[in-house]
Amino acid sequence: MSLHRILILGGTGFVGRHLTAALAGAGHGVRILSRDPERHRELRVLPGVELRPGDVHDPDTLRRALSGCDTAVNLVGILNERRRGRDFRAAHVELPRKLVEACAANGVRRLLHMSALNADAARGSSAYLRTKGEGEDLVHLAAGQGLRVTSFRPSVIFGADDSFINRFAGLLRLAPGVLPLACPEARFAPVYVGDVVEAFRRSLDLRAAFGARYELCGPRVYTLREIVEWIARMLGLRRRVLGLGDRLSRLQARLLDHAPGRPFTYDNYLSLRTDSVCREPALGRLGIEPTALEAIMPHLLERARSNPLDRYRRR
Ligand SMILES: NC(=O)c1ccc[n+]([C@@H]2O[C@H](COP(=O)([O-])OP(=O)(O)OC[C@H]3O[C@@H](n4cnc5c(N)ncnc54)[C@H](OP(=O)(O)O)[C@@H]3O)[C@@H](O)[C@H]2O)c1
Repeated sequence: MSLHRILILGGTGFVGRHLTAALAGAGHGVRILSRDPERHRELRVLPGVELRPGDVHDPDTLRRALSGCDTAVNLVGILNERRRGRDFRAAHVELPRKLVEACAANGVRRLLHMSALNADAARGSSAYLRTKGEGEDLVHLAAGQGLRVTSFRPSVIFGADDSFINRFAGLLRLAPGVLPLACPEARFAPVYVGDVVEAFRRSLDLRAAFGARYELCGPRVYTLREIVEWIARMLGLRRRVLGLGDRLSRLQARLLDHAPGRPFTYDNYLSLRTDSVCREPALGRLGIEPTALEAIMPHLLERARSNPLDRYRRR
């Protein structure tokens, strides 16, 4: 295995923290460009990790950050926009464009790019999925210009510090006996963050991965309702999950889109209209046996049960 100098964009996020630890643990040098490195200074204790302040959207900053690196990893992605119609494009399309240009300027030959399952520039059911698809196509187009590109298309990713399972755990705690759930029949194949990270790590030098678009899924498909009911059981909460029909789901999305923090947006609702299930699961091809939700999360939720705030929860 050759050792690399890797720049990670989005290295401070949920997937990024796991990937940074795995790559640094394997002996690679990792540089992370972050808007606010102080918030993530715990990453500095990892051997070979450099945390650098900077705006990833600034082309000069990107070029400087790539100097001395042979590989770039792009994990930047957002689920919600603050400036409607602009943030998705900036994060999912313009940033990948700037990154491939910076790779060309620095002679960086390898790019691992995080996309999303169902990302499709033309047919994506939401602005999130369409812009993710556009960014993915763009980086693969750059592959002809001396860059070896692999993109990853995961279903929802779970792990101790994820925002999916933990968000529903939080909502269930707050719910007064009944949780109204939009899109209860939406289907997912949740994939473990450790498997996602391993797919990135194994792809680094794998010739078969050059130009590949890997769909990443866990071993089982669940409806959203099944997942939420399962979380409630794991947390020992007696809650009724009230599945909303399509009209009420849309209404809930429209209302919460205007709530502080925008916990669920109309664009999220549109994403959920497409099942997040792999047609060509790639973990097996990479020699990774997908980890089941049930194998990992009960232990993590068990820890969450002892959360001091739990004494306020309703049983
Ligand atoms: N989590 C999932 O279930 C899931 C499923 C499918 C696809 N994905 C994709 O996987 C990638 C990583 O997901 P994640 O869950 O790890 O995300 P995350 O926790 O939100 O982290 C994303 C990181 O990107 C940086 N970032 C976010 N918005 C930015 C912006 N507007 N400009 C510049 N930097 C920005 C942040 O770094 P700083 O604040 O340090 O700058 C942040 O740490 C994303 O592309 C996401 O779309 C995730």
